[in-house]
Amino acid sequence: MTDVRLSPEVAARLEEALGRSYSPYSGFAVAAAVVTGSGRVFAAPNIENASFGLTVCAERNAIFQAVAAGERDILRLYLLTPTSELHTPCGACRQVMREFMQPEAEVLCLSREASQRFTVDMLLPAAFSR
Ligand code: THU
Repeated sequence: MTDVRLSPEVAARLEEALGRSYSPYSGFAVAAAVVTGSGRVFAAPNIENASFGLTVCAERNAIFQAVAAGERDILRLYLLTPTSELHTPCGACRQVMREFMQPEAEVLCLSREASQRFTVDMLLPAAFSR
């Protein structure tokens, strides 16, 4: 996972979440992990549905788990795909990130061969927010 610094805990949690991906329709497993202000890590995979539109992306799943646990201060999000090329979050997830992360908060995208650092603002400039 190249140049993005990844703690052993976050790496392990991402791999565990990836293994729990429920993606029989797309065959595309995704894992996300968020780190909160209190230092907790919440990791989750994508979860698909036979009614395709009900699928939930890994990023939203991880963010909502943190918020449901009372952790609204999300400092950083990691996204892992088990591919050689890098993938970045979908538009819907970028909007959800903007709700619970500061514009300058980090989004670290990882594949098996590459990694890239973004901020929330880089991924969703001129965002709609309250
Ligand atoms: N997916 C994510 O989990 N995150 C994204 O940012 C984009 C897409 C999932 C949804 C679906 O299960 C699969 O990847 C293919 O689109």
